Amino acid sequence: MEYFKEINLPSWTIIQEFCLSKWDGSFTTAKIFADSDLEYIGSIIEHDIARVLGMSVKVKTAIMFINDANFVQDLHVDGFDPARTNASNTALNLPILNCENGPMSWYDGDFFLTKSPVKTIKYLKINWNSKPKLAVTKIINRPTFVKINIPHHIENQSDSPRLMLSIRFVKDILLENIPPVS
Ligand SMILES: [Fe+2]
Repeated sequence: MEYFKEINLPSWTIIQEFCLSKWDGSFTTAKIFADSDLEYIGSIIEHDIARVLGMSVKVKTAIMFINDANFVQDLHVDGFDPARTNASNTALNLPILNCENGPMSWYDGDFFLTKSPVKTIKYLKINWNSKPKLAVTKIINRPTFVKINIPHHIENQSDSPRLMLSIRFVKDILLENIPPVS
């Protein structure tokens, strides 16, 4: 199974600069882009995706995750309701700052999902019937589509905050439809 796929994204640097300009350096868990910010990000990314992948999609959400130094995220599956109706199966992750030492890992095993008891951003709780088994670990240090419908988490192994912009699309862009980077 594929867990991630890297792509070339010409406007990555422009997006990085924009996102950094929206962060005041203080720690928060996430910044959800809305209104004109979301429109701006959407117009740039949609143009790039059309050019690079030949796909016509709309940006659904753009969230910059700000993971504090040495933060280890709980294992989770993204989504609000356990059935994951209309939930995205992939996200395009764009490294913004300090992503070189914050690997993302995916896990296999037998589990079922329930609503998260904690009010966090779109996380479903994983109830394991078997011991989770590490499937793959990857440093996301360039624009990468990642699976978010199977158990995963990130681990910030550095002493500084890690900023990662995560974008979801309608329609969902499936990994098998993305050509390998040339
Ligand atoms: Fe996630």
